[in-house]
Amino acid sequence: MIEHLTIVQHPLVQHKLTLMREKETPTAVFRQLLREISHLLAYEVTRNLEMTSVHIETPLTEMRAPKLAGKKLALISILRAGNGLLDGILDLIPSARVGFVGLYRDEETLKPVQYYFKVPTELEDRLVIAVDPMLATGNSSAAAIDLLKQAGATNIRFLCLLAAPEGVKRMAEAHPDVPIVTAALDSHLNEKGYIVPGLGDAGDRMFGTK
Ligand code: URA
Repeated sequence: MIEHLTIVQHPLVQHKLTLMREKETPTAVFRQLLREISHLLAYEVTRNLEMTSVHIETPLTEMRAPKLAGKKLALISILRAGNGLLDGILDLIPSARVGFVGLYRDEETLKPVQYYFKVPTELEDRLVIAVDPMLATGNSSAAAIDLLKQAGATNIRFLCLLAAPEGVKRMAEAHPDVPIVTAALDSHLNEKGYIVPGLGDAGDRMFGTK
């Protein structure tokens, strides 16, 4: 079991995150950095996957060699910003199964509203990694995890780029069994629910919609 909150302190992660935070960083560069950073975060969130060993033949001899155990893991992108993390993780784990949870945040109540849900079969037998770059209020993340649990998932991890203390607290209360891996824990949320200092709206910045 990994810690409830893991902050990935690797210098490359922290350097890339600083570049992403800068408001003048162009969309294409932001997207490229997100892809690169997601490789490093994926490395951390999969650090203690269950292993088995198999019998193989190298050109020189036979041996027992380590291999990932169990069913292919499931990556769940929380739309739309989750897709930015998803692409990079799939570079590293190309055979992962992929699902999507569509939730939008009601700008007035800040509460999540579901508009799409499609996930791989046999979730109960898979490690499920839910991805969303910004853990802000934690409302949409907690709601997404609720839906994944209703669909059968029991072994879930949550991967984000930035977390606010409010979101970490909300997740710890709602889903203490779901470890969180993030690149940074920021100061607080502002009155509009944005993470401060943060990086702005992750979706807008990766897709160039503002
Ligand atoms: N979602 C974002 O994209 N950015 C924030 O700061 C908070 C939620």
